[in-house]
Amino acid sequence: MLLKDKIIAVIYGGRSAEREVSLESGERVTQALINKGYKVEAIDLFGPGGRLNPVKQLSDAHFDFAFIALHGGEGEDGRVQAVLDMLQKPYTGSRPLASGFAMDKALTKKYWQGLGIPTPNYLCFSDKPDLEKIHREMSFPLIIKPSREGSTIGISKVHTQAELTKALEDAKKYDSDILVEEFVSGPEFTVTIIDDVAYAPIGLKPSSEHELYDYEAKYIAEDTQYLLPCGLSDDLELEVQALALEAYRSLNCSGWGRVDIMQGSDGCFTVLEVNTSPGMTSHSLVPMAANYAGIDYDSLVEMIAEQAWHSFLETC
Ligand SMILES: Nc1ncnc2c1ncn2[C@@H]1O[C@H](COP(=O)(O)OP(=O)(O)O)[C@@H](O)[C@H]1O
Ligand SMILES: [Mg+2]
Repeated sequence: MLLKDKIIAVIYGGRSAEREVSLESGERVTQALINKGYKVEAIDLFGPGGRLNPVKQLSDAHFDFAFIALHGGEGEDGRVQAVLDMLQKPYTGSRPLASGFAMDKALTKKYWQGLGIPTPNYLCFSDKPDLEKIHREMSFPLIIKPSREGSTIGISKVHTQAELTKALEDAKKYDSDILVEEFVSGPEFTVTIIDDVAYAPIGLKPSSEHELYDYEAKYIAEDTQYLLPCGLSDDLELEVQALALEAYRSLNCSGWGRVDIMQGSDGCFTVLEVNTSPGMTSHSLVPMAANYAGIDYDSLVEMIAEQAWHSFLETC
């Protein structure tokens, strides 16, 4: 059974805070699959204005296989994946449980601490943040982030009590669970994984105006530097790749993903998160890492789709 004889649904859009990014990813992925000779049906989940019922949208659509180009929300946290499982449609990327786990930074960090996978120290608050505890156990600067968001949405770096209070309120708009995390000086790296192979880490160097590799730096600014090669020695590069694979495998991720890693001032590497449905826009990091390995955008999309299709065929 060849995937080229089937209909591929590119599922994109969604209603998370990352909808705009996903619209761009979805368009690029759709075009790449068409260029490679696949039959494609693009599904803008929730549609313009978000009025459509997503379960009905997916069950009414005619397709055999899905390329998930959603970021954040139900497209990345396992819910869309679970609907596709129920509809018995194979799809790219991680299964529902791994997707949900990776999306929840608080749960992931607690699990990694148990496994000994390094991740920045943190406190997590579901209700009212305990400011006394924060002051007792952590010191400024701190990173405040919602547990289940992406694209640096709701994340702040804070240096003072006043900034902390405001950042906690900001983060609360996006999630009930808030992380107060130790600040890691960097540099920062991100590692693409496809079919259980780690690609060359990309070094991320935001311009001095951007304190974090934040939403603007990620999607708008033209002055973020992407370092490929990333500037580490060969040995350290291998260490970062091995750590990325360990973190990715620990969550039982499959297909593809991207792991965010930082280096502390002590030289040690620490894992921020695993992205199970990473960006696929022209600015995005997975296409950049693939390109460095000699894989152009269209071939990358084909590779992700064919890998998922073949692993589905193996389970039939
Ligand atoms: N503990 C930290 N120390 C320093 N910078 C951080 C820390 N946590 C996050 N950042 C910065 O914020 C960005 C987004 O954080 P991340 O945890 O990857 O969440 P997401 O990408 O899901 O929004 C990172 O790429 C990094 O630049
Ligand atoms: Mg990230």
